[in-house]
Amino acid sequence: MSVWAILVAAGRGERLGSDQPKAFVKLGELPLLAEPLRRLDDSEWVDAIVVVAPPGWEEPAILLAEELGCAKVRACVAGGETRADSVRAGLAEVPDDAAAVLVHDAARPLLTDEVIGRVLAPLADGWEGVVPGLPVSDTVKRVGSDGGVEETVARDGLWTVQTPQAFPVDALRRAVSGGADATDCAGLVEAAGGRVKVVPGDPLLLKVTTAEDLARVASLL
Ligand code: C5P
Repeated sequence: MSVWAILVAAGRGERLGSDQPKAFVKLGELPLLAEPLRRLDDSEWVDAIVVVAPPGWEEPAILLAEELGCAKVRACVAGGETRADSVRAGLAEVPDDAAAVLVHDAARPLLTDEVIGRVLAPLADGWEGVVPGLPVSDTVKRVGSDGGVEETVARDGLWTVQTPQAFPVDALRRAVSGGADATDCAGLVEAAGGRVKVVPGDPLLLKVTTAEDLARVASLL
């Protein structure tokens, strides 16, 4: 019984303003993809990794994994149009006898083994998804296109969620089989009626979206 990790790295990253896909933009000396890949490969929890690369970038992704000496990479496949399509492509490489599957955004390089352990543990209690999250501390408002406030949303019980997200492999397969899309995998599992638990995330699991995010993550390496 093994834990498989799907590293989704097929996003275009248009908001970074680079002509390369986000996963291959430089973070320090190496492509962004290197840091989360190395951390998953080093994790005591992870047995096997599937890398989902931007279409046409499978070979550079494999070469990078070899250069880093990542021994757990079992497959590298091309991603799809949406994040859910990319997860579907990665999940097709995961065997049915896997104990659990972790899905992680390559755009969150600062992954730790503590967070991986925290999302895997509750699966033993029968949860169909476990996600790391942070309670919202700012005041939240819904704002119209003219900048006008439409509503102040009560923040009690509101959390922002991150990756890695953990699932029993059959629960994630059922959730993605319908062809639906969502901004995270847990959303697909919830839509399929699955029970999802939130555990404490990590403020350092920042997601790289803009050039400023990239500089911030680079300063934390
Ligand atoms: O676009 P967003 O920042 O939400 O993407 C989150 C993660 O999903 C990133 O690591 C990105 O590479 C991945 N992704 C993907 N395939 C897509 C879109 C996003 O693998 N079509």
